Amino acid sequence: MRVPLIAGNWKMHMTRPEARELVRGLKARLMGKELKAQVALAPPFTALETVANEIADTNWILVGQNAFWEEKGAFTGEISFGMLAEVGCKMVILGHSERRHIFGESDEWVGKKVQACLHWGLVPIVCVGETLDERERGLTLKVVERQLESALGGLEEKVAGEFVVAYEPVWAIGTGRTATPEQAQEVQAMVRDWLGRRFSPMRASKTRILYGGSVKPENIRELMECPDIDGALVGGASLDAVGFAKIVEEGDRAAREGGK
Ligand code: PGA
Repeated sequence: MRVPLIAGNWKMHMTRPEARELVRGLKARLMGKELKAQVALAPPFTALETVANEIADTNWILVGQNAFWEEKGAFTGEISFGMLAEVGCKMVILGHSERRHIFGESDEWVGKKVQACLHWGLVPIVCVGETLDERERGLTLKVVERQLESALGGLEEKVAGEFVVAYEPVWAIGTGRTATPEQAQEVQAMVRDWLGRRFSPMRASKTRILYGGSVKPENIRELMECPDIDGALVGGASLDAVGFAKIVEEGDRAAREGGK
């Protein structure tokens, strides 16, 4: 059984007062509800401590949006996994397409970050996904497999801790254009199959595979009904308390009804 996970990736949004207000709005809507789904929030670095304090009385998970693999040193502008752990993070988003495409992070870098993340006892949320051009050229599965191999292929089953995979087609991120449940399911099933081959059937059945890319209250249900979608990584729609609370509730309901 995989516990559904609904994570909000706030990206470069939310000052501390705004973050506080958003978390309070979410708590007003979600606290006291019997949810099976885990809620996770990834604020920008400057708001991590504020959010950590606000969610101290919940079982929600604090997530970092990125980190560098070195422990400390002369790396201006970077932040380490240890620093994220110290402020209360339990998970870290790695290999997000904005990191790959805007900031030039390579597959190799993502692999090094995953290793460091696990070393610190944090759970990486490893993002993979193809561009529109790659999809149109029929390269989707190949690209995703290459990204998986470089991010996770260097891990040994026995020592690898928990990790989460997020399939985020680049053409669906921030565009309003969601992958259809069929398109998402096809890739998510391939990811699970890869995990089974590369690690073990047990690992494949236990690992949570999220979908991300224009997830909204209106489409979370049909996505969560897919057998290999265990949750969502939500960008734009996670910045609004009403909308994100609805995504959590609808996602939770769909997962329960589907026997997840
Ligand atoms: P979006 O972003 O929901 O705004 O498309 C998803 C993501 O980048 O994680």
